[in-house]
Amino acid sequence: MLLSYPGAAPFPVRLLSELFRRGAAFLEAAGSPGPYTLYDPCCGTGYLLTVLGYLHGARLRALSGSDIDPVAIEFARQNLALLTAEGLAARTAQLEDWAARFGKASHREALESAQRLKTRLPGALAAACFTADAARLEDAAPPVAGVDMVITDVPYGRSAQWAGGGAPDDTISRLLAGVRPVLAAPAVVVIVSAKGQTARHPAYRRVTRLSAGKRLVTMLAPVDA
Ligand SMILES: C[S@@+](CC[C@H](N)C(=O)[O-])C[C@H]1O[C@@H](n2cnc3c(N)ncnc32)[C@H](O)[C@@H]1O
Repeated sequence: MLLSYPGAAPFPVRLLSELFRRGAAFLEAAGSPGPYTLYDPCCGTGYLLTVLGYLHGARLRALSGSDIDPVAIEFARQNLALLTAEGLAARTAQLEDWAARFGKASHREALESAQRLKTRLPGALAAACFTADAARLEDAAPPVAGVDMVITDVPYGRSAQWAGGGAPDDTISRLLAGVRPVLAAPAVVVIVSAKGQTARHPAYRRVTRLSAGKRLVTMLAPVDA
């Protein structure tokens, strides 16, 4: 149903939903009840944002994503369009055509998913994505502002690598520096990385850290907000 790169492992939906809930619980406790603007600076094909749009659309105002890979951003644009009635209708029509022409089980299953999603469409939710190096966001002047929550699944060094150079910990630190100017107050940043990587920057304090299978989740908040 969602477009993805061949072989890309989908992020577990339950964990994703749990991370959003934890982020929202932090913001609520800090006096921000939402709805929230969510930004993913390594959004790939926009899977994380699109899934959260469907699961928690009522608590969201806007979704923004960026990635260094322009091809992934084109996929993200098409996946984020599934959060609108027009986008979902266009994808459904395409799947109906494929199911009729090729008779593949995968197309029929995707069509069933599309029909289920029709009953769960979120209300008005702004969604946008753009190409940017997450380690050089300051240079890119990202077209996002007032971000309440960042959730990002950074490259682990196995199937996905950091592009643009730099050691993973330095790159995460530069990502944190780059998103800081676009954060609202209060805000929360959730970095999902490989175990052994460190998500740290002097402008942030660590709220919590948890391990989830092969992943490490670090939740941070700006120190001066
Ligand atoms: C683990 S994947 C994230 C998948 C994504 N969460 C999704 O929902 O599809 C990591 C992503 O980081 C991107 N990436 C690698 N280096 C980057 C950089 N310097 N700046 C921004 N994105 C980068 C890759 O292109 C890849 O899409």
